[in-house]
Parts: sequence; C-alpha cells; structure tokens
Amino acid sequence: MNPEEFRKAAHELVDWIVDHQARIPELPVQSQVRPGDVAAQLPREAPVTPEAFPAVLGDLDRIVVPGITHTQHPRYFGWFPANATLSSVLGDIAASGLSALGITWQSAPALTEVEEVVVEWLRELTGLPSSWRGVIQDSASTSCLVSLLAARERATGYSETRGGLQAEPAPLIVYTTEHAHSSVVKAVALAGFGKDNLRVVETDPWTRAMVPEALARAIAADVAAGHRPTAVVATLGSTGTTAMDPIAEIVPIAAGHGVWVHVDAAMAGSALLLPEMRWMIDGIEGVDSLSWNPHKWLGTVFDCALLYVADPEHLVRVMSSNPSYLRSTVDGEVTQYRDWGIPLGRRFRALKLWFQLRLDGVQAIQDRLRRDLANARWLAEEVGSTPEWRLLAPVDLQTVCLRHEPADITDPGALDAHTLAWADEVNSSGAALVTPSTLDGRWFVRVSIGAESTSQGDVAAVWKILRATAEGLGRG
Ligand SMILES: Cc1ncc(COP(=O)(O)O)c(C=O)c1O
Repeated sequence: MNPEEFRKAAHELVDWIVDHQARIPELPVQSQVRPGDVAAQLPREAPVTPEAFPAVLGDLDRIVVPGITHTQHPRYFGWFPANATLSSVLGDIAASGLSALGITWQSAPALTEVEEVVVEWLRELTGLPSSWRGVIQDSASTSCLVSLLAARERATGYSETRGGLQAEPAPLIVYTTEHAHSSVVKAVALAGFGKDNLRVVETDPWTRAMVPEALARAIAADVAAGHRPTAVVATLGSTGTTAMDPIAEIVPIAAGHGVWVHVDAAMAGSALLLPEMRWMIDGIEGVDSLSWNPHKWLGTVFDCALLYVADPEHLVRVMSSNPSYLRSTVDGEVTQYRDWGIPLGRRFRALKLWFQLRLDGVQAIQDRLRRDLANARWLAEEVGSTPEWRLLAPVDLQTVCLRHEPADITDPGALDAHTLAWADEVNSSGAALVTPSTLDGRWFVRVSIGAESTSQGDVAAVWKILRATAEGLGRG
C-alpha cells in the first residue's frame, strides 16, 4: 500500500468507524455467532495478490461486526465497562501512525516523556501520594505480576541474583481474598510463590471485604511456622461485587512484618478522579504499589493500565537490563521504562490518554462517572424495594448485584437454574447484556453500569427487561 492509497483508505475507514458507532444501538449487544462461524467465512489461505480496500471493509461489516459483543452499546451491562472514547481512539491511531519504537529513551524520547507527564497528571487527579511514580502497563494482570516480583525480591534480598527461590530457606507467603481477581492467583503461580503459599483471608459476609483481624491471624500463624509473609494483594472494586478491602487497616498489619502491599484497583481506580470517592484509598501512604485500568470505566481504548509504585527502584533492581546496544550518553538523566516492566519494546500508549484528557477534559469524565454512580444507586433502590428481588452486596461503585427470588422457588438448585435461565434469555435476546456470577456457591446477576453511552433511560429500560424476563419465567 502506498501513502496515497493509505490516505484514501484511511478516510474511508474513519467514515466507517463513525457510521458503525452510530449503528451500535440497533445491533444485538451479545454477539449471536456460534463457535466457528467467523473462521468458516475466511479463506483458508492468505491472498497472494492485493485485494481492493472496499472488499476488506465489506468483510468487516459482513463477517467481523456480527462476531463482536458490543461493549460500546448503551445496553451493555456485562463484566466491567470497556469504554473506548473516540478521543482515545484518535490517540491510538496517532500512535500507530507514528509507529515509535519504545525500547529505550533514545529510541523515542517523546514516548517516555509524554508517558511520564500523563501518568503524573493522573496521579495528581486521583489523589495518590506526590512521591509516587507511575508507568503504563498493558494490563492489571501484568501490573500485579510485576508488583509480586518486586515484593518477592525485596523480601529475599534480591534472591534472583543468587540461587533464586529454589535456594530460599523458607516459603514466601502471599495473602489475598477469594474475591480477588483470577489474575492474582495466576501472578502468584507465575512469580514462583506456588499456589500452596497463597493464603485466602476471610472476608465480611456482606461487604466481602478482607477482615483485617483475619489477615493479622494468618500472618502470625505463618511467622510461627517459620514462613515468610511477603505480600498482600488488596482489592478495591472486586470483580464479582466491587468489594473494597480496608487499606487503612491492612497497611499497619503488613508494615509490622515488612510485607509488600499491592492494591488492585483495576475497576475502582477511575472513581478516584472524584474527590468524594477517595475514602477508598484511606491509608494509601503505606502501600507499595497500586494499579488501575483506564481501559475500563475511564474510557481509554484497550489496552492501558497504570501501575504506581512508592519506590520505582524495586522495579528497576528486579527488571533492569542494559545491553551495550541500548546504551546512550544520557542514560543517567532519563527514565528507561523498559526497566519498569517485562517487555523491552513498548507501545506509545500514553498518546491515548493524552488525546482523551485533552480532547474531552477532566470535567466531562467526572460528570460521566458521577452519572453512572447515581444510576447504580437508583437501580439498587429499585431492586431493594421490589418484592422478590434481592440486593446481594453494597453498591459502592457502579455494579449492582441482584437476584430474583420468587417465593415458590425455595430449593437452592432450582433458584440457580432460574437465575441462569433468565440471564441467558436476556443475553441471547441481544436486548441487553448482564453477567451471571457466583457468590457463596450460588448464582446471581451482575448489572455493571458504565458504558459511555448508557443513560438513566437505558438503566430504567434494562431493569424493565430483567423484571419482565425473570418474573415471566418465574410464573412458569
Ligand atoms: C479487579 C480486577 N483486577 C484485575 C483485572 C484484570 O484486568 P486486565 O484485563 O487488565 O489484566 C480485572 C478485570 O476485569 C479486575 O476486575
């Protein structure tokens, strides 16, 4: 493709994106394709000669769009918001157009320095300590892994430079709760702690937040057994019910044993842009690392995760690499972000955030977050005041956990079947998307509000749909 062909195609693609976005409200929220449907429409071999761009664009409409579950749909209430503001999409396109190589400061000074500035803007906007430094990672999963690697190395006096974990005299222990994201369990395994050395700390039966006294007891038992408490992963806004672990109470317990505290605020981090939500990070000064995902509720097109650390030296000591071909005369004066994470080569993700914050402004983002919080409170009140409907968790954020409990369905297994049946009927209708999930071994439904286009009217509409579907099925 030559530059003039690119110019023409790119204009057509931008027009296509705008038209596609306008059409989303009429499309089914959940993709209706069956496994294999998409692949079956693609040729088995790559084309040998060039195809015309309209043919490719036509296939986007015909093959790809039906194979997408539309997280940008106003009736998308599934998993967590995965917003993609058009301002950040522009930044993503600009990043691709620039095609900068982020392997060292020298290879693209702007890539590093725009990132430093934008990450600092967001630190300030979210009320995190002024001495902290941040970096953009691909995901909250990677951020947790990187934090646990740093915790492991701090606890062992940098064992990686000797015999590694295999030479350690005592097992290193990590603490979290059953409501932590699955990526925490994965990171514990990948960082070499071993799943046997992950302690699942008791939670409050209503808030699902970590019980600090239970953490203290678990740490004391490990110390008595000769183990080494190493890290606590606390969650703000758990995936199931948006539970909030009490940071202010966890920090002093951890500090007494030199335990690293990582806070996974993948979802809740966006809410920190609202001063009235900063209660979530009471005690943050004693935390070692915190990550959150602008690619969720904030609306920075996937992927964009922020990792903040109290002391980046821990990352650098564990992950720095300095081969001769990457050295330059300014190395002592600049940040080498390759030393703050796993990959060498990094994308110019900061441009997405830079475009979004500049083109939309903080005020509009804050207004949208407040709108979603108010919509969640409205729905929670509706659920709480409607007979045979039950709220299963506090609504501190934008997710409402609910269950339809008809009086005539008393058997727990039958209630599970009813919940799964009505949720499936809603989702397969394409009219809205909600997520069934389990709590204490029983199914319930999460209504996660926060798509950029979701208005109060859409929330009222989904409530009507849920009631009509569940109560209809409940009557048999
Ligand atoms: C609380 C929490 N932590 C971590 C993750 C994983 O995020 P990522 O896909 O960025 O790894 C999620 C995803 O929804 C989450 O809800």
